[in-house]
Amino acid sequence: MSGYRIGVLASGGGSNLQVLMDKIRAGDLPAELSFVLSNNSKAGAMAKAKAFGASAYHVSSVTEGSESLAEGRILDLVKTHNLDLLVLAGYMKKVPPAVLSHLKNRVVNIHPALLPAFGGAGFYGHHVHAGVVARGCQYSGLTIHMVNEAYDEGQIVLQRAVALPPGSTAEQVGALVLRLEHAWYWRVVEAFARGRIRPTLSDKPGEAVDARDFLSDLGPTPDP
Ligand code: GAR
Repeated sequence: MSGYRIGVLASGGGSNLQVLMDKIRAGDLPAELSFVLSNNSKAGAMAKAKAFGASAYHVSSVTEGSESLAEGRILDLVKTHNLDLLVLAGYMKKVPPAVLSHLKNRVVNIHPALLPAFGGAGFYGHHVHAGVVARGCQYSGLTIHMVNEAYDEGQIVLQRAVALPPGSTAEQVGALVLRLEHAWYWRVVEAFARGRIRPTLSDKPGEAVDARDFLSDLGPTPDP
């Protein structure tokens, strides 16, 4: 047990969550999965969390009675579990502001495009890849970034690009990007757990974390 405690919020199939759990189990990611929380009881992520033996909470305005009660419940869980890092892995709701201020500069998200392109309200999941195809992009990729109160606007920790074969469909783009996500997200979480990425106390969005050690560990970025 490493003592570094992460919580994961997920709304979808949970393939990124699965990689995190696989890496924890393999001993590559020195972290404890404190809990998984979803707004959707039928999310594949919930089934995967239970199969792993993690605490899996379904929290929504329906389960709690209102949006503000749901937000309060999420804050309670974050406090009770004494998290070091909150990891968003396909979470389609906004993180409550009280959680962001409690876990200042310690909430990280993965977005399936090269921000700031194809980010912000309406750009999630399939809509992102449909937008990339509609614009005829030759590259897409992933962005792992810190979360603040503006959608998709926190400090960028890592981006990786993938070349898109001409004529790719949105599904094909999504599959290429997801493969990249599985290769990289756990490494960023690992870098937090090993202290190679360190949250700061800064209020400036671009200075949420010090990722210089992690980036120098990675070395020069190859062209895609
Ligand atoms: C991932 O592609 C992730 O980047 C995306 O949802 C998918 C979840 O897949 N997140 C967003 O669009 C957030 N804006 P998964 O449930 O299989 O990990």
